[in-house]
Amino acid sequence: MKDIIVMPSILSADFACMDKELKSIEEAGADAVHCDVMDGHFVPNITFGPGFLAACAKKTSLPFYVHLMIENPDMYIEQFAKPDIVAEITVHEEACCHLHRTLQNIKATGKKAGVALNPHTNEDVLEYVMEDLDSVLVMTVNPGFGGQKFISSMLKKIERVRSISDRLGLDLDITVDGGIDGNTCKQVISAGANMLVAGNYVFANKTLSRADAVRSLRG
Ligand code: DX5
Ligand code: ZN
Repeated sequence: MKDIIVMPSILSADFACMDKELKSIEEAGADAVHCDVMDGHFVPNITFGPGFLAACAKKTSLPFYVHLMIENPDMYIEQFAKPDIVAEITVHEEACCHLHRTLQNIKATGKKAGVALNPHTNEDVLEYVMEDLDSVLVMTVNPGFGGQKFISSMLKKIERVRSISDRLGLDLDITVDGGIDGNTCKQVISAGANMLVAGNYVFANKTLSRADAVRSLRG
């Protein structure tokens, strides 16, 4: 079984003191930072662009996993790939009409390439690009906002993606994003996920410290 990677999402952090927020999750034992980029078109919310990401990159040594919830991602891939600290760029299947080309564009920057699937999207759409992928991000809420309820029918999708990856001998990372907490983490890990995004559970937890929250997500 792959190691569990815990990635707090800075969407739930305090943007006015992001340097401190990044330090705090580093000290809490997080493995990576999940960066939610939203454009107000693909999703009904706007977050930040490559300039903000580059500024954040100077404040931590944790790797960045960039989740692009934007239309026309090809236009911005090079800019988001600039900081050395960016490990992976994930685009939405629903936003890419030339997904194979987009994945090659990500790879050309030297970064890992991921594809995110909205809750309604069948994993079959990835059949012809499976070998071009480093990870599949299964959205376990509808993208756009933190603090939503986990959609449990996504467990079946996680199991299916894991079994396709095993059948093809690919050892893909499976990321889950949305509504991940101390209970849902166990379900997604046993379904086959190995990378867990958590926004509110880490940054807005009323009972656990950030270190305890991160620890409890490891299953
Ligand atoms: C939602 C984002 C998530 C979000 C998760 O569109 O992709 O990364 O920050 O937040 P929680 O963990 O609070 O559901
Ligand atoms: Zn995300």
